[in-house]
Amino acid sequence: MSIQTVSTTPFEGQNPGTSGLRKTVSVFRQPHYLENFVQSIFDSQEGFRGQTLVLGGDGRFFNAVAIQTILKMAAANGFGKVMVGQNGILSTPAVSCIIRKYKTFGGIVLSASHNPGGPNGDFGIKYNIGNGGPAPEKVTNHIHALSQTIRQYRISDAPDIDLSRIGLYDMDGMTVEVIDSVADYAELMQSLFDFSAIRKLFANGFVFRFDAMHAVCGPYAKKIVEDMLGAPQGTVVNAVPKEDFGGHHPDPNPVNATELIAFMNGPQGADMGAATDGDGDRNMIVGRHIAVTPSDSLAILAANARAVPGYAAGIAGIARSMPTSTAADRVAAALGIACYETPTGWKFFGDLLDDGKITLCGEESYGTSSSHIREKDGIWAILFWLNLLAATGKTVGQIVHEHWRKYGRNYYSRHDYVSIDSQRAAALMDHLRAKLSGLSGQVFGSCTVEKADEFSYTDPVDGSVSERQGIRIFFTDGSRIVFRLSGTGTVGATLRVYFDRYEKDRLDMAVQDALGELIAIASEVADIAGFTGMTEPTVVT
Ligand code: G1P
Ligand code: ZN
Repeated sequence: MSIQTVSTTPFEGQNPGTSGLRKTVSVFRQPHYLENFVQSIFDSQEGFRGQTLVLGGDGRFFNAVAIQTILKMAAANGFGKVMVGQNGILSTPAVSCIIRKYKTFGGIVLSASHNPGGPNGDFGIKYNIGNGGPAPEKVTNHIHALSQTIRQYRISDAPDIDLSRIGLYDMDGMTVEVIDSVADYAELMQSLFDFSAIRKLFANGFVFRFDAMHAVCGPYAKKIVEDMLGAPQGTVVNAVPKEDFGGHHPDPNPVNATELIAFMNGPQGADMGAATDGDGDRNMIVGRHIAVTPSDSLAILAANARAVPGYAAGIAGIARSMPTSTAADRVAAALGIACYETPTGWKFFGDLLDDGKITLCGEESYGTSSSHIREKDGIWAILFWLNLLAATGKTVGQIVHEHWRKYGRNYYSRHDYVSIDSQRAAALMDHLRAKLSGLSGQVFGSCTVEKADEFSYTDPVDGSVSERQGIRIFFTDGSRIVFRLSGTGTVGATLRVYFDRYEKDRLDMAVQDALGELIAIASEVADIAGFTGMTEPTVVT
């Protein structure tokens, strides 16, 4: 076995952006494509010789091939050890957990999150630093720059390692430790939640349905929910990870998790339903005839955190991404703690968590988490809800309605216009930008614009500034419309329009009806149909 230095030339656009490098599988399968990017990751780092790297992915198509390549490159580049999940499987939150627990140098997650998988689907690779969180922008920019000038990469010609058996292996002088994918993560969950209370809940006949969407959380949920918490076998459905997620879009929202929603609204139903995404960092919570919006979920977890052992001492602060509803702000105000508003994307929470400014954080896009790791965490959120139900004896619906009665309700929805022409999308945003200053004071039906701006964020910890993070129109009654372009798509552009309307007392309207006026205003002000050629959004969540 020996180390090879392979000549190569750069590929355009290896830009890891906010959530890692995400491209179609066909792009990743080009010769040298993955290798170039991995070498650029390693070249962006210093001091890893002899150190440990964590490696795993969500099991999607190309995961198994990529893992072997990365192992060989880690060996050739001088890592001392790689901890790799059995069969190459690790959820994103598990990678974060393992990096932190074993204080490793960093980790690599192979996933395109909730994007479809399979030979015609997407693949992705993300580098996480020693705090367990995604590499910050200065690192991802550096990786991108290196990928544009790369001339060679290093790789061992050692044979593949059998990743189906837990144990220690040698690869060209580097140790490969194949670890149980679930154990460390399960232990962390057990340290945060009242497992015996949840076990009692199940023993008393509580019916739960966990839809793993044929993605990475299947084995995690089986172990934690069925084995450790004693829920009946079969509680976790679609539990076997598949390379193409069974042909589904592993995104836990009411539009994509249709099977779960239909079951919850059907004759049998369950006391609680939950789903997770491709790599296990997103979650959806559903009760009988009620889907909890992620914005409400964050607010409710924050309001009730003391009921959970891991947060019994209270929480330091909350952060939410800007387009996420302001429900959490009201809870923070009531608790007398700070609520930070960050740009979209999990990386902005990392500093606030590291600095102890916040304990809980979340986004409207079905992501919630806390200081226990540096990623969002699907199973964590689901266990938090189970713990709340066990501690209070209430139903999901009761908890949500009681929350609204106390704090008021944020009617909330996101409308996505998917795969539109990139130039037209940019033109729509420019058109809005040009209008911003003239919007103040304008009256649309019963709504008056208070102000309109473009969100820019100054990180309170390191002072870095992120500009152009979404265009906002505020109304005098506290409602908001937010426009931004997605940063995670792989084809064309996606326009996201977010609607948030606060009501103190009118708590039982249908969401899209409650938002109807705002929806019409957004179409008019941004001329969505004119720019996109679409009269209806592609996805409404
Ligand atoms: C989307 C979500 C965002 C999330 C990101 C990664 O990004 O909107 O909240 O952090 O996926 O999961 P977007 O495509 O909107 O840039
Ligand atoms: Zn994800």
